Amino acid sequence: MRISTDTSDVLVVGGGLIGLVTAWRSAQRGLRTALADPEPGGGAAQVAAGMLAAVTELHYGEQMLLGLNVASAQRYPAFVAELEEASGRTTGFRACGTLSVALDSDDRAHLRELHVLQRRSGLESEWLSGRECRRLEPMLAPGVRGGLRVDGDHQVDPRRLAAALVTACERAGVVLRRDRARRLSVTGGRAAGAELADGTRLTAGQVVLAGGSLSGRLEGLPEDVVPPVRPVKGQVLRLTVPRAYAPFLSRTVRAVVRGSQVYLVPRADGELVVGATTEELGWDTTVTAGGVYELLRDAHELIPGITELPLTETRAGLRPASPDNAPLLGPTALPGLHLATGHHRNGVLLTPVTGEVMAHVLTAGELPELARPFSPHRFAPASPGSAPARTPGQTTPASQEQPV
Ligand code: GLY
Repeated sequence: MRISTDTSDVLVVGGGLIGLVTAWRSAQRGLRTALADPEPGGGAAQVAAGMLAAVTELHYGEQMLLGLNVASAQRYPAFVAELEEASGRTTGFRACGTLSVALDSDDRAHLRELHVLQRRSGLESEWLSGRECRRLEPMLAPGVRGGLRVDGDHQVDPRRLAAALVTACERAGVVLRRDRARRLSVTGGRAAGAELADGTRLTAGQVVLAGGSLSGRLEGLPEDVVPPVRPVKGQVLRLTVPRAYAPFLSRTVRAVVRGSQVYLVPRADGELVVGATTEELGWDTTVTAGGVYELLRDAHELIPGITELPLTETRAGLRPASPDNAPLLGPTALPGLHLATGHHRNGVLLTPVTGEVMAHVLTAGELPELARPFSPHRFAPASPGSAPARTPGQTTPASQEQPV
């Protein structure tokens, strides 16, 4: 077995968007930072569509998460400008807005309710008739009954974003260890690093577990700090809009069809991403005929012309879901071990704010005010007589958020 004395201030376990942004921000704060992942920038970032859907993916009971989502969406333009400058790479950020449409009277009633919730939450969204929707997006099906125009829900290309973060990390001095962290090292009751699959031992003053849906699989985690994160499968298709058909769609278009979400995200380079299934099937990432069929069927009801487009890629990824759909951020019960995982549907959107929050945690030792509701401690078993844990769905409205 090879023994290494490699030492850093911070070791980040996991090199998806969340691990990369944490490592980048950590190195920018002057901390010697290492990151372990067999394929930095791989994982869910290679599958995700990249919608920044703080408003259109609002759900009842998730108002606290909304505050974090909106805070991150607001940071996006400055974040990508800084990252593009630091990496010399583009991220595909596109301030294009989103149109959520209804195909029948049930969908219409559902969207009307969402509109009320959005307005009550202080969010910008405008109700349009079917004709107004088609004027904005002429490829929409003639039967569209109405929709919500949300000009603030943009998109980024997660593959480009991940590649830019890898380069920014390298340029900031992050040591990328292209191997899997197999086991957490604990010394004197503190997280002290990790052992890689090849036997290399990395020591660090602080460890951030950012392993996405794999976070709970790191060996050596004490039982009470194993993150309650499970994989939720999403199948996603990629089509190409030939130059002669452009502009096919000018913004993200989405709908709920027979209870399933379908969205079409048009990139500036002609790629059209169609997603996504939501399946609780453990670690399975098989692309199935049924998944592809359902996505194409629902997308075709929305935009009949998609059947003319070349289908260029089918892929499935795993969302890291927590019990309340909100991320787990910050210190755990094991000193020196922090979590940055459980971002579920919002990993791409929450990348900028997670980087800031984790840099604050690593330098100040505690969560900033904005992120306190997302502490992993909310899932700790309550001790007798203690107050019930505060959950992200229950408290402060978005308007009361604090700067990080
Ligand atoms: N946020 C899009 C998805 O999870 O499918």
